[in-house]
Amino acid sequence: MAKFTVLNHPLIQHKLTIIRNKDTGTKVFREVANEIAELMVYEITRDLAMEDITIETPMGSAVEKQLSGKKLAVVPILRAGLGMVDGVLKLIPAAKVGHIGMYRDEKTLQPHEYFVKLPPDIDQRQLFIVDPMLATGGSAIMAIDALKKRGATSMRLVVLVAAPEGVKAVQDAHPDVDIYAAGLDDRLNEDGYIVPGLGDAGDRLFGTK
Ligand code: URA
Repeated sequence: MAKFTVLNHPLIQHKLTIIRNKDTGTKVFREVANEIAELMVYEITRDLAMEDITIETPMGSAVEKQLSGKKLAVVPILRAGLGMVDGVLKLIPAAKVGHIGMYRDEKTLQPHEYFVKLPPDIDQRQLFIVDPMLATGGSAIMAIDALKKRGATSMRLVVLVAAPEGVKAVQDAHPDVDIYAAGLDDRLNEDGYIVPGLGDAGDRLFGTK
């Protein structure tokens, strides 16, 4: 079973409260969502593989650490996932960025894939799939399906707010993909929105309705 982790860091929790607040406008919402993504990636990358390397400092030679293992990529699920990419890239500026376009049918709530553009060596990379809201889990499951179909083997799903229903659905469908959230909420409402949540993440990020 995949791990589900809520990142309880005080800065993450404080910032999450800011973007939940309905009075927070687009500019601040966008900035703070990226700040949370940055902090989350800092926490999630604690276990990245390292290797020793010998370097020359101005004072002499030293055996020091550097990252080893798989290269990284961030894959936002469009469009709301875009609101977390800059935050991730602040810490991992060399990461490649893939995009997966999914839209949710407003009536059936079912996700549909309309765009997939990925780095060619996706099978060699560790992927951070980002999407602010893990609601029913439909989009995340389909995005992971799309990535696996194209050869990806190493993925983590990073969301701002999760609903228990979505966590269970992703864990059932993809027991090899660990999930990280800034908050775990109570439930989904009849329209598929997370309660208390933060509303429509895409609309709040981009100022649309
Ligand atoms: N997508 C959103 O943007 N918000 C929700 O609450 C659920 C899905």
